[in-house]
Amino acid sequence: MDLIDLGPFPLVDGHAEAKRRDGADPLRGFAGWFAPIEPDLIYLDGNSLGRLPAATASHIQEVVEHEWGERIIRSWPERWWDLADDIGSSVAALIGAEPSEVVISDSTSVALFKLTVAALQARPGRRRIVTDDLNFPTDVYVTTAAANLVGGREIVTVPSSDGIHGPVEKIIAALDDDTALLTLSHVVFKSGYLYDMARLTRAAHNVGALVLWDLSHSVGALPIDLDGAAADLAVGCTYKYLNGGPGSPALLYVNRRVDGDIDNPLAGWWGHARPFEFDLAYTPAPSIRRFQTGTMPTLSLSAIGPGVALTAEAGIDRIRAKSIGLTEFFIELSKVYLEPLGFQLASPPESADRGSHISLRHPDGWRIVRAMIEHGNIIPDFREPDNIRFGFTPLYTSFVDVHTAVIRIVTLMSAGAHLGYGNDRTPVT
Ligand SMILES: Cc1ncc(COP(=O)(O)O)c(C=O)c1O
Repeated sequence: MDLIDLGPFPLVDGHAEAKRRDGADPLRGFAGWFAPIEPDLIYLDGNSLGRLPAATASHIQEVVEHEWGERIIRSWPERWWDLADDIGSSVAALIGAEPSEVVISDSTSVALFKLTVAALQARPGRRRIVTDDLNFPTDVYVTTAAANLVGGREIVTVPSSDGIHGPVEKIIAALDDDTALLTLSHVVFKSGYLYDMARLTRAAHNVGALVLWDLSHSVGALPIDLDGAAADLAVGCTYKYLNGGPGSPALLYVNRRVDGDIDNPLAGWWGHARPFEFDLAYTPAPSIRRFQTGTMPTLSLSAIGPGVALTAEAGIDRIRAKSIGLTEFFIELSKVYLEPLGFQLASPPESADRGSHISLRHPDGWRIVRAMIEHGNIIPDFREPDNIRFGFTPLYTSFVDVHTAVIRIVTLMSAGAHLGYGNDRTPVT
């Protein structure tokens, strides 16, 4: 589509400024490592599903044709048996963990369920589970189901005062010596609020509770130091900023300090110390492997490696620096161009308080997202009731993408492109 020229953006032309920032970006070459998409498409949904690293396509072809096609079952000892540990080790380096503390296992929801039940069983005398009302729905469902299963537990959901910022002080006040577990998303899925992991973990430990972090929206987007924060447990998606592909299995972390107290409540043969002895008595593996349950989805697991390698090569500090640059640029442009059109920032204004996505609220949000996808060649996503989420993935989002997306939204709004959509809320991405 043609761009309209909206004149100067704080003293300089916005497009020229975006190009200047791209020119100075040490990560600008990384977009070339991803499989091409339509040249005009601006993809701002990497916080939901990351793009395909080009190396993943050839790697999966090799896995399918050689490892499965030719080597067939011989690939288990040759390659697949240790794959979840190997990929877990490279993920560990991104989250401040030892290789022995991380394994790849199941979906994030299932990993969360295992660790929640395990944590509750490890604190049998305590009734309370503390969380907030900004958490992702699966976290809420899983916590409720785990509490029901274990029995005698009460969930304390601490409300956010503005729907954007985590209610940190109120959470700390809610923790007491009856609290078994504090469970939170490190970066909140809707607003992008970033919790201070070290502070909240310390507060939970002060009352003897365990802490479980959901890293889905932070892993691969910002530095994480689980060991440094003395976090107990964590899970996270590998298909967002790590670009592992749709449904790629989750990371699961158990701090070695609590390792001895935490048992996998979903024991299966893959977590057995000697699975090929087929002993009917369960003996857990003397390592993080005991949190696995059944045969890994090997194709999906194999797809995680190249994305993690790209992240490691780019360096998580450079990724975070660019992420802050992109989100600040977007907010600056939004203030000038989008706020006058009824958009309202629904993410923390301070970059230290947020991850790598920004939410804008607009009463017509759902229709605007439809128009962006169908007429604007921009893919963000929509979260009820009126949140438009823009994910900025430093490995492939450019400053020119950010500027162009804003100008296109202005163009769509002035053309009334969103007005033609009715109320049928078919899910948008
Ligand atoms: C914060 C968070 N936790 C958990 C999940 C669920 O992950 P899965 O569907 O892989 O179980 C998601 C999915 O988007 C998420 O955003």
